[in-house]
Amino acid sequence: MIQTLIPVSNPKPRFMQKKQEFLNALDSVIERGMYILGDEVSSFEREFAEYLGVKHCVGVANGTDAIAVALKGLGVKPGDEVITVSHSAVATVAAIEMTGAIPVFADIEPDTRCIDPNKIEKLISPKTKVIIPVHIYGQPAKIKEIISVAHSRNIKVLEDCAQAHGAKVGDKKVGSFGDAAAFSFYPTKNLGAIGDGGAIVTNSSEVFENVLALRQYGWRHRYISDFPGVNSRLDEIQAAFLRIKLRELDKDNARRNEIAKKYSSAIKNLIRQQWLKAPVSIPDTIHVYHLYVIESKNRDELAKFLNSKGIGTALHYPLPIHLQPAYKGRFRGGDALHQTELLYKNILSIPMYPELSELDVERVTKTFKEWIKIKQ
Ligand SMILES: Cc1ncc(COP(=O)(O)O)c(C=O)c1O
Repeated sequence: MIQTLIPVSNPKPRFMQKKQEFLNALDSVIERGMYILGDEVSSFEREFAEYLGVKHCVGVANGTDAIAVALKGLGVKPGDEVITVSHSAVATVAAIEMTGAIPVFADIEPDTRCIDPNKIEKLISPKTKVIIPVHIYGQPAKIKEIISVAHSRNIKVLEDCAQAHGAKVGDKKVGSFGDAAAFSFYPTKNLGAIGDGGAIVTNSSEVFENVLALRQYGWRHRYISDFPGVNSRLDEIQAAFLRIKLRELDKDNARRNEIAKKYSSAIKNLIRQQWLKAPVSIPDTIHVYHLYVIESKNRDELAKFLNSKGIGTALHYPLPIHLQPAYKGRFRGGDALHQTELLYKNILSIPMYPELSELDVERVTKTFKEWIKIKQ
């Protein structure tokens, strides 16, 4: 029997389930006649800020711009240094370079797979202006420790929350800890649009005023640029769709956690027989499983086996940024990324999205058990 492929992520079912609601929202946008920075964007900005527990939100065109505009809003200038990780989407580093600043790489922790707070201090130089922790896969970084290192040196923290909408440390959501935070609404994200979208959030009225102007040519008053900016606006249609999806974000994240629990208990039972690691549960944090990423010494063989059984896999990411042709050898820190270089060879993302059926989840866990049996 040919089995249908279970993809790693799939934004389509939600848009299909709620197609009429999205079409009604689109109709309202068309009828209202205000197509750029209208009611939908300002309502979404207010609702998303409220959801996160922050004072301000500014919608922008995508998550990469969110990082670049936020960095400029925090005062980063060409030649400044920004410490971040190599184990991330290339967007994090591309955004730093968009500002003329220089990325510096810190290693990650094996458990959170996020920046290691203990590896930051020795990378700080007089040029360091910002640290960007990435809450990778939906797992919060050790944000309190990172902020304590940064703020004691007068360095700002910009959280890269592109994969972590709704994740928490204690009872606070990520994005509410740093001096600012950047979100992506790429369609497969936990909160995804039907195209590109992004946002910057902050509790600082100064950063808010800066990014508000920067996203639109540096305008504080229409058509008058106080400083050079860009055109990076969230559009009305995306904002209207995001408002609908935001109402279901907590429910979606709970479902992702339910699926993760089933995967983890199936995998945990197998660790003894075969080197296989489920994501580690970190105390006092809520993981939102943007991706469910296992580690295996036999990663490629396992991926082949899963694919042959109709289970999709992906690599997030196949090569750390500091080893990619565009960036190799260019930045400080890239020669001491021991954990980063250990991790990337073993990671494998398996299907994770809220609409996965119980049957699909069972197919995944059963296939893992089969694989172990064969390997024994
Ligand atoms: C960690 C991280 N940062 C930044 C981005 C950039 O977001 P976008 O694709 O919306 O530009 C992404 C998304 O791919 C991401 O995963």
